[in-house]
Amino acid sequence: MAIEKIDILLLGAGGREHALLKKLSESPRAGKLWVAPGNGGMLQLADVAPVNQEDAAGVAAWAAANGIGLVAIGPEAPLVAGVGDAVRAAGIPCFGPNGNAAQMEGSKKFAKEVMARANVPTASYQSFTDEAAAADYVRQLGGPCVVKADGLAAGKGVIVAANTEEALAGLHECFTGAFGDAGNLVVVEEMLEGPECSLLALTDGTTVVPLATSQDHKRALDGDLGPNTGGMGVYSPVPILLDGELEQMSAVMQRVVDQLRADGITYSGCLYGGFMLTKDGPKVLEFNARFGDPETQVVLPRMKADLVEAFLACDNGTLADVDIAWGDDWAVSVVLTSAGYPGSYEKGKVITGIADAEAMEGVTVYHAGTALDAEGNVLTAGGRVLDVTAVAPTFEAARAQAYAACDKIDFEGKTFRTDIGLKAILGRENL
Ligand code: AMP
Ligand code: GLY
Repeated sequence: MAIEKIDILLLGAGGREHALLKKLSESPRAGKLWVAPGNGGMLQLADVAPVNQEDAAGVAAWAAANGIGLVAIGPEAPLVAGVGDAVRAAGIPCFGPNGNAAQMEGSKKFAKEVMARANVPTASYQSFTDEAAAADYVRQLGGPCVVKADGLAAGKGVIVAANTEEALAGLHECFTGAFGDAGNLVVVEEMLEGPECSLLALTDGTTVVPLATSQDHKRALDGDLGPNTGGMGVYSPVPILLDGELEQMSAVMQRVVDQLRADGITYSGCLYGGFMLTKDGPKVLEFNARFGDPETQVVLPRMKADLVEAFLACDNGTLADVDIAWGDDWAVSVVLTSAGYPGSYEKGKVITGIADAEAMEGVTVYHAGTALDAEGNVLTAGGRVLDVTAVAPTFEAARAQAYAACDKIDFEGKTFRTDIGLKAILGRENL
């Protein structure tokens, strides 16, 4: 029987979406590919759909008018805006949770309440709508704590406070509008300690398939110094897990999906669990309602599956029938940024050497912040520019190959961390 191809619209513009698009394009089911808004790398595989990715009705109408057979949603904002609901209401299969399920990321208080009902280990917390009451609680805690604006704050809105003064300053920022409406409700929680580990899982609302573990590097500078960023590098799998930790994290993902279903909410799509590996076992820092960025750029290259089939199965409740396998290889990805990131930086610099890097064994260069000019040159167009990923049989080889590939690429202001993955080699006891 001939394989039925379907046309696909993918929403988003980052390295995560380039990795998703590439994997979708490798499926025998993939027909014509569309992106909105896309980036310089994505435009080499797809055309741009003239829609605003957060306009739920507009996306659904365009997809219906253009015979789209699958809409895949990359970032959180369209999910929380209800794009999934509108696309499904138009009768079109969609990858990504509906707006009510996306509250797992859209509201930290909502996520905490689900975790409490599902008996998921997480930091103890209280939520506040009033600065004075929150300040009283912070003083009562009297030491390190974490202050979080409740809503989406584009990766900001979390203040890890070493002492009461920093926590009070963070509260003041939230309640005086530094994170917009996201800060009208504030969660204050216990500070957890340990290495972090991300676990992505695909789910159709019943079946939960954990993908490989990965670890991000959030700080801008070597040695985990400097400000927080969207992620400077990542590897998969995480070699420092102790016996039983993966099973505990996987069980948490299943319990959350089961709890939501019991609450009347079908969660379908990717659920991202951000864990801290504490001495009392893995505890949840946060859930995201989507694939991680840059985690996706090391998890997907290692995954042996038809991503179109998997995405359709998440939507129609048949994920249990999909074959998802893993190689025993390793992936390391180094993010090349524009000088100045995460502060201000210049754009429009010509990038050279991507083809030379990709000619290397096991190397893929995912575009994050790039654009194409009229001649087809690739230009920098963001703070995080490229994710240089290498897959190899050993961790050390993947790391060496990723850095060798970074050397082939050049643009004015090219900046990157030189210690991605080093801690994983040191071992758990040295973290
Ligand atoms: P979140 O967006 O909630 O994951 O927070 C961003 C980052 O803040 C996490 O990746 C951690 O590095 C840190 N963080 C969040 N919550 C806590 C916590 N309870 N204890 C220590 N660090 C935290
Ligand atoms: N890497 C963190 C995130 O995707 O939220």
